[in-house]
Amino acid sequence: MTLGFPFEQTTTPLSDEERAAILADPGFGRYFTDHMASAGWTPAAGWHNSRVGPLQPFSLHPSAAVLHYAQEIFEGLKAYRHADDSVWLFRPELNARRFARSATRLALPELPEEAFVQSVEELVKADEAWVPAYGGEQSLYLRPFMFASEPFLGVRPAAHVTYSVVASPAGPYFSSGVTGVTLWVSNTYTRAAVGGMGAAKTGGNYAGGLVAQLEAQEHGCDQVLYLDGAEHRWLEESGTMNLCLITSDGELITPGLGTILEGVTRGSVLQLVTEHGLTPVERRVSIDELRAGCRDGSITEVFAVGTAAVITPIVGFKGDGYEAVVGDRQPGKITLAVREHILDLQYGRVPDSRGWLRRVG
Ligand SMILES: Cc1ncc(COP(=O)(O)O)c(C=O)c1O
Repeated sequence: MTLGFPFEQTTTPLSDEERAAILADPGFGRYFTDHMASAGWTPAAGWHNSRVGPLQPFSLHPSAAVLHYAQEIFEGLKAYRHADDSVWLFRPELNARRFARSATRLALPELPEEAFVQSVEELVKADEAWVPAYGGEQSLYLRPFMFASEPFLGVRPAAHVTYSVVASPAGPYFSSGVTGVTLWVSNTYTRAAVGGMGAAKTGGNYAGGLVAQLEAQEHGCDQVLYLDGAEHRWLEESGTMNLCLITSDGELITPGLGTILEGVTRGSVLQLVTEHGLTPVERRVSIDELRAGCRDGSITEVFAVGTAAVITPIVGFKGDGYEAVVGDRQPGKITLAVREHILDLQYGRVPDSRGWLRRVG
């Protein structure tokens, strides 16, 4: 039985003028559309009360478990408008599967893959007018999430859980051209350990990273590059993006899975780079190998990948007592070509030969 997300239209939508003013400069995560998807879960009833309805605040008891024990997961994906005005999702089933894996890790109930995709699709259909116009790398960012809404104190999986999806128009990530960023290699903080939650998309991972992000900023860097928790030696990922290295002998190397988030963009890049003459390799890379490779030129480009920025060139990094430059400190040529390739696919400018796009409207 499929869940179904029947639509109840809001009686207080923003006017066309108000929406147009927001879409003229949406930024990221600042404005939300008129509707939201939601559903509840209990052990007895399973998933129920699923619908797309007016965007409205939750009413939570102060003892709701999520507020105390952080039993929570989320996802992030985008809807893209094509030149012919149609609206598409990019590989949403991968987000659905990752959401299910995160749920298992956080002892939350699994939302069936079809229900996840359907909730996202129905919300996008309801708020299609909020999907920014084609051109200029804008999109509608979608945020599915699930949390422990049962009121109680005590450490056990909650028996009442809430699922929801909200949508937020997103402007171009790099409004003044793609610039490179620098990473801070933290020796103080790690993000994940074997057996921990690193592979799950759960709020605690991001809460724990905030202080590391502040440390990066204190050192004049944009983001953190995390090393592994056991040896402080192996590259993991940045706070919200996976890492990729290009070598002078034509490899695209990315750290293997385990304690990192399995990014949808990472998986897509691994498949696309063969068309750019690169061999994809998933393996461990030490910080010493990265530093030496940047020094002797055997590592030519470094970039980070994720839904929000697609591909962010990394032009340098710093750690305790050292600083390194990647290439000539400019975004790399292959980096920019792979970035264009993914964007062309997402915005329908090249044929979708792999069937990665899913039409919504
Ligand atoms: C920690 C972390 N790593 C990697 C990614 C990239 O994942 P994706 O490409 O699915 O957006 C994200 C973003 O979701 C993230 O938060």
